[in-house]
Amino acid sequence: MTGEELERIKEYVRNKMAVSTDPQHGYDHPYRVSANALKIIKYLNISKIDPNLLEAICYLHDVPVSLYKHNSAFKHFFEKHAISIYLPMILDDIKVKNGERWIILNAIKRHPFSIPYKRLNRNGDIYTKVLQDADSIDFLQFVREEGLMENRYKYFFYFILSFFAKRYLNYARRNLGNYLNFPELARYNWFGRE
Ligand SMILES: [Fe+2]
Repeated sequence: MTGEELERIKEYVRNKMAVSTDPQHGYDHPYRVSANALKIIKYLNISKIDPNLLEAICYLHDVPVSLYKHNSAFKHFFEKHAISIYLPMILDDIKVKNGERWIILNAIKRHPFSIPYKRLNRNGDIYTKVLQDADSIDFLQFVREEGLMENRYKYFFYFILSFFAKRYLNYARRNLGNYLNFPELARYNWFGRE
C-alpha cells in the first residue's frame, strides 16, 4: 500500500470518527493502536509485512463499531456483527486493492474479544495477530481506564464495569502475556507507570 493511500484512509477514518458518540473510540484510539503496531513489528523484528497496510488496518479497525448506533453494551457484544455489516461498505468506499481487501477484512473480523475473553489468534496471520495485540495493549492504557471512569454516569454499561474495572485492569496489566498473541511483548513497558 502506498503512503498516499494510507493518508487517504487516515483522512477517511478521521471524518468517520469525528461523528462517533463513543468516548472510548475517538480518533486518538486508532492513532495509538497504530503506533503500538509499529512498535510491535520493531520489537519482534518482523520484516515480512507491509507497514502501510498494517497501519491502515489499525486505523480502520473500529470504524464499523463506531457506525453501529447502539448502546455500549450492545456494541461490545455485537462487535463482530457490526464489522460484518459495515466493513465491506467501508472497503468499497475507500477502494482498496483486492488482495489487501481480504487481509483487512480477515484481521478486523478476528480482532475482538482478546480482553477479557482471551480469544486470541495465535495461529492467525501476522496482520491479525499484530492488530489484536496492539488493540489489547491500548485497552489497558490508563487513559482508557480514566475515560471509562469519567463517563460512568453517562452509560449504564460503563457504570457496571466501573465497579471492578480498576482491579481487573491492574490484573490484566500484570498478566499481559496471557492476553497477547505474542506473549514475549509483555516484557516491554507499555503503560508508562506501574
Ligand atoms: Fe479498538
